Amino acid sequence: MLIIVTGVSGTGKTTLGTALSERLHLPFFDADHFHPKENIDKMSQGFPLNDEDRQPWLKALAAQLRESELSGGAVLACSSLKESYRKELSVDDNLRWIHLKGDRDLIWARMQARQNHYMKAGMLDSQIATWEEPSYGYHLSIDQSPEEMLDEALDYLKKESMKMKMGVIGMGVMGKSLALNLAEKGVPVSLYNRFVKGQEEGVAQQVLDENPDFANMQAFEDLKLFLDSLEKPRKILMMIPAGEAIDAQLDSLIPLLDAGDLVIDGGNSFYKDSERRVARMDQLNLRFLPMGVSGGEEGARKGPSIMPGGNAEGYEMVADFLGRISAKDKEGRPCVTYVGPGGSGHFIKMVHNSIEYGEMQVLAELVHLLRFGFGCSPEQVSGIFSDWGKGELKSYLLEITTDILLFKEDGELLLDKILDQAGQKGTGAWSLTTALEYGVPYSPLAEAVNARGVSGGKELRRAFSKTFEHSFIPVQASLESWLPKLKSAYALARVINHEVGFGLMKTVSDSKNWNLNFNEIARIWTNGCIIRSGLMENISVHYSPSLEFFEMPGVKEQVISGRKDLAELVGLGIAHGFAMPVMSAGINYLLGRITAESSASVIQAQRDYFGAHTYQRKDDPSGKFYHTKWT
Ligand code: 6PG
Repeated sequence: MLIIVTGVSGTGKTTLGTALSERLHLPFFDADHFHPKENIDKMSQGFPLNDEDRQPWLKALAAQLRESELSGGAVLACSSLKESYRKELSVDDNLRWIHLKGDRDLIWARMQARQNHYMKAGMLDSQIATWEEPSYGYHLSIDQSPEEMLDEALDYLKKESMKMKMGVIGMGVMGKSLALNLAEKGVPVSLYNRFVKGQEEGVAQQVLDENPDFANMQAFEDLKLFLDSLEKPRKILMMIPAGEAIDAQLDSLIPLLDAGDLVIDGGNSFYKDSERRVARMDQLNLRFLPMGVSGGEEGARKGPSIMPGGNAEGYEMVADFLGRISAKDKEGRPCVTYVGPGGSGHFIKMVHNSIEYGEMQVLAELVHLLRFGFGCSPEQVSGIFSDWGKGELKSYLLEITTDILLFKEDGELLLDKILDQAGQKGTGAWSLTTALEYGVPYSPLAEAVNARGVSGGKELRRAFSKTFEHSFIPVQASLESWLPKLKSAYALARVINHEVGFGLMKTVSDSKNWNLNFNEIARIWTNGCIIRSGLMENISVHYSPSLEFFEMPGVKEQVISGRKDLAELVGLGIAHGFAMPVMSAGINYLLGRITAESSASVIQAQRDYFGAHTYQRKDDPSGKFYHTKWT
C-alpha cells in the first residue's frame, strides 16, 4: 500500500507519517528531502516555490513511489497542495491519501514552535492560499493528539483496504459480463442487482456463486450497503435498460452519493436524455459519463469497444479500468477514447447502431437474393461470404452471417425456423429522427429501420403474397458471371452506409461544437464492436476533415468501380421480386450525390408555380430569388 499524508506546512505530516510507517512496517519518506538545493535555498530566504520549481521535485517523488510500489509500499509525507501535483503522484490504484486539516491559528502556533526548519512561519498563508481541496481521500483533523490521529488514520486505512474499486448496477447479460471482465483484469468490483420479490432475488449473489474463482467481487441487493462497499470517490457503472429506469436509478442513487462520485450509464440511452442527465449531475457536483458499449455479450466479457463522453474528469477516474477491459486495436491500443462532452458518447453509439442496422440489412438482402434468386444452398452462400471475408471485405457481421448459414438444429437450418419479423430497441430509429432534425440525407440507413418495420406485418405479408401472387423469380444468369458484381456491389453498399453515418456524426458534431475526432472514433470501432471491419480500419487511417468521405483512399476506388454493379444488382433483384431497400436506397443516394444537373429544378419550378416560393437561376450567380407568373 502506498500512503501519502498531505497538508500545508505545520500540520504534522512527518509525525503522522512516521508513526504510520512504524505501525504498518512500511518505509517512510519525507518529501522535503527530495527538493533540489535551489528550492531549499529559495524557501530558506522566505520565497514561495512556483510550479516550475516544483517539477523536478514531483518527478523525483513519483519515481520514488513507483519504486516503493514494487517493493510493497511506503508512506510519504508531502504537502501536495494542488490537484496537478497530486495527479503527478498518483502512480497507482492502491494509493491512499490522508489530508491533514486544521485551523490556521493552530498551525501557526505549531510552526512558530518549530526549530531548525527551512520553512518560515510567514509562508503559511501562501500555502493555505495555494491549497486545493481534494474531493477524495481521508480528511483528518489535526485538532487532536498524535495518538488519536494515528488511530483514526489506521482505522480509515483498514476500512479502505476492504473497499472495492468499482460498482456495477444491473446483473443482466451486459452488466454481469462487464463486471466479470473488470474482476478478471484486477479491478475489485461490487455487484448490485435490485430485489424484486419473486422475480429478481439474490441475482448478484448468483453471479458470485457461478464464478467462485473471482475472490475480488462482492454481491449486494441493498443499495446503501453496495455504495458503502465502494472506495471514494465512488465509480459506479449502471448497466440497466435505457429510458425511465435510468432516471429512477439516478433518483435513488443521488441522495446517497458524495460530491465527486462518478456514475456511468453504459446502456444504449438516447443522447438527448444523456445531455440532460450530465447537466443535472453537474449541478449536484456529481460526475456523469454517458458511455456507449459495443460488442454484445462476448464483447462485454472479453473486450468491448467503449465510447465514453460527458464529464471529462469522470473519464480520467476510470480511464485505466476501461482501458484494461476494452478490446485492443491492431497496435495493441485500447478501443476506448474520451469521445467528447455532453451526450456525445451515446450519440456516436446510436450512429454506430444505425450503421449496424444498414450492414445487417445489406447482408440479409444478399442472402435472400443468392438463395432464392440464384438458387444457392445456404452452404454455398456461406462459402461465398467466407471467401469475401478473407480480403478487404472482412467484417464481424459478415463472419457471423457465414456461421449462421451453417448452423443446424436437429439436422435442419435454424435460420429457416426463425420468424421473419425483425425486432428493434430504438437506436436505429433515433438516428433517423436525428438525421431529419439536422436535415442530413439518411435514406440508406433509414431504409434499414423501415425494413424492420415492414417485416413486422407478417400476417398481412402472407395474405398479400397470395392476393398479389408474389413469388421470387429464379435468376437465369449464371452465378459465376454475377459473383464479381455481387462483391463490388456489396463493397459499395457498405461504403455508402458508412458515409451516411459519418455524415450525420460530422454535422451534429459541428453544430454542437463537440469537435469529434473521427479517426479516433473509427479506431475504437476497429475491434470489439459489432461493425468492426477492414473498411473501418481504412477509415481510421484515411479519414480527414479536409477530404470528402467518398474521396478517401480505399473508398474512392469502390465508388468508381462498384457504381454500375450496385445499380445492376438492385435492378436484377427488384425485377426478380426481391425487396432490396438498403442497397437500392444506397445507389439512389449515391447517384443523387454525384449528379451535377439534378431534377431539383423541376421541384423549384413547381413550388414557384403553385405557391410563389421563388427560385434562383443558373444564369445569375448573385443568388437572387426570382418569381415567374407561370400562367
Ligand atoms: C452493440 C449492439 C448492441 C445491441 C443493439 C441491438 O453494439 O453491441 O448494437 O448495442 O445488440 O442495441 O439493437 P436492436 O435490438 O435495436 O437491434
